[in-house]
Amino acid sequence: MSHDKMMYVHPAPVRVWHWVNAAGFVLLILTGLQIRFAETFTFFTLEDAINIHNYVGFVVIGIYGLWVSYYFGTMKIKLYFPDLRTFIPDVIRQAKYYGYGIFIGEPNPHVMTPDNKFNAMQKKAYLGLMFVFLPAQMITGLFLWRVKKFEDYISLLGGLKIVDTVHVLLFFFFCAFMIVHFYLATLGHSATAHFKAMFTGYEEHH
Ligand code: HEM
Repeated sequence: MSHDKMMYVHPAPVRVWHWVNAAGFVLLILTGLQIRFAETFTFFTLEDAINIHNYVGFVVIGIYGLWVSYYFGTMKIKLYFPDLRTFIPDVIRQAKYYGYGIFIGEPNPHVMTPDNKFNAMQKKAYLGLMFVFLPAQMITGLFLWRVKKFEDYISLLGGLKIVDTVHVLLFFFFCAFMIVHFYLATLGHSATAHFKAMFTGYEEHH
C-alpha cells in the first residue's frame, strides 16, 4: 500500500507516549494486583512488586508530560473536544453502529481524517481518561508513595482511606478500560489496522 492512500494520524510523540504508557499500565496492573492481593498473586517478590510499581508509576507520570506538551504545544488537543452542537446525535449514531450496524456490514458513520480522528464516543472517553481518570490515578499514586510527606494533601482529600479507595477503584476502572479499549481497537477496516496505525502513524484511507 503506497503512502498516498494512507493518512498520517498518529505523530511520533503520540505513538511513543501511547506504547510506553500501555506497557507501563500492564506492569502497574500486574504489580498492583500483587500489592493489593499479596497472598493470591506472586508474580514477583512483594518487595520487587512494590519497587517496580513505584518506578513504573513515575515513568507513566513522566511520559504523560510528553502527551501534554505535544497536544497543547501544537494545539492539536482540539482533536479531543467534541462538537457540543452535534454531540448527542453523534454519540447515538456511533453507539447504534457499534451495537448493531457493524454486525450487518453498515459503514462506520465517522470518517476519520487527521483533523478529526476520533468519533464522538472516543472523544468523550479519551477526554475523561486523559483529563480526569489518569491524573486522578497519578496524583493518588504519588500521595500513597510517600504518605508522610503528602499528609496535608491527603487530609485535604478526606484521609488515607479515601485516597487509597480512589486509587484502587480507578485500578479496577483501568482494568475494564483496557479490555473495552482493546476490543474497540480491533474494529478498524481490518482487525489489526488500528494497532498498525499506532505503530507506523499511518491509517489506511477508506
Ligand atoms: C496493551 C494495551 C493497549 C493497546 C493494545 C492499545 C491500543 C490502542 C490503539 C490500537 C489505538 C488507536 C485506535 C484508537 O484511537 O482507538 C489507541 C489509542 C489510544 N489509546 Fe490505547 N491501547 C492500550 C492501552 C492504553 C492505555 C493504558 C491508555 C490510557 C490509560 C490508552 C489510551 C489511548 C488513547 C488516549 C488513545 C488515543 C491516542 C491519540 O491518538 O491521541 N491506551 N490505543
